[in-house]
Amino acid sequence: MGKLFYGTQTGTTEGVAASIQAALPDLISDVKNIYGVKPEDIQACDFLIFGGSTWGDGELTDDFADYLPKFDSIDLTGKKVALFALGDQYGYSYNFVSAMKIVYDKVIERGGEIVAADVSTEGFEYDHSEAVIDGYFCGLVVDEVNQPDLTEARIASWAEKVRLAVRGALV
Ligand SMILES: Cc1cc2nc3c(=O)[nH]c(=O)nc-3n(C[C@H](O)[C@H](O)[C@H](O)COP(=O)(O)O)c2cc1C
Repeated sequence: MGKLFYGTQTGTTEGVAASIQAALPDLISDVKNIYGVKPEDIQACDFLIFGGSTWGDGELTDDFADYLPKFDSIDLTGKKVALFALGDQYGYSYNFVSAMKIVYDKVIERGGEIVAADVSTEGFEYDHSEAVIDGYFCGLVVDEVNQPDLTEARIASWAEKVRLAVRGALV
C-alpha cells in the first residue's frame, strides 16, 4: 500500500486528496498534510502520491516548501511516485500549476520514478505551465476554481493510469 501527502494553503487540496484516495482505495492507505510528517514515514512507503496547489508566482504552498529540504534525507530509489496539482488556469494563466514541477524535480533528484505523468493538457486554457513536460502535464491537474465539475472525471481517468503503472509492483 502507499500513502498520499499533500500541501495546501487554504484547504482546497484536502478535499481533492480525499477524492483521490476514494478512487484508489487499493493503493492508498493514508492521506496526510505533509506538514509534520517524519521523513521515515515517507521512506517506508513503496508507492507515494504527492500533491498540492500552486501559490505566489508558480510557487509551492508554504507547508510543502518548508518540507522540501527534508527530502534530502529520503531515498526514493525504486519507489513509484504519482503527482497531482491544483491551480487556477484563468487567474494565474502565466504559471498554471507550475509548482508541480518543483516536486517532480525533487522526486527525480532523490531517485524516484514518476508514474502517470502523461496527462493531457486538453480542456485547459492557460498561457504557460512549468508542469508541462514533452507536451503533457507531469501529473493529475484539477482546477477547483473554474472547473470543479470536471474534477471527479479527471481523477478517475488518472487513477486508472496510476493503477496500471503501480499494480504488480506492490504486493
Ligand atoms: C495569492 C494566490 C496566488 C496563486 N498563485 C497561483 C499560481 O501561480 N498558479 C496557479 O495555477 N494557481 C494559483 N493560485 C490558485 C490556487 O492554486 C487555487 O486557488 C487552489 O485551488 C488553492 O488550493 P489550496 O486551498 O489547497 O491551497 C493562486 C491563488 C492565490 C489566492
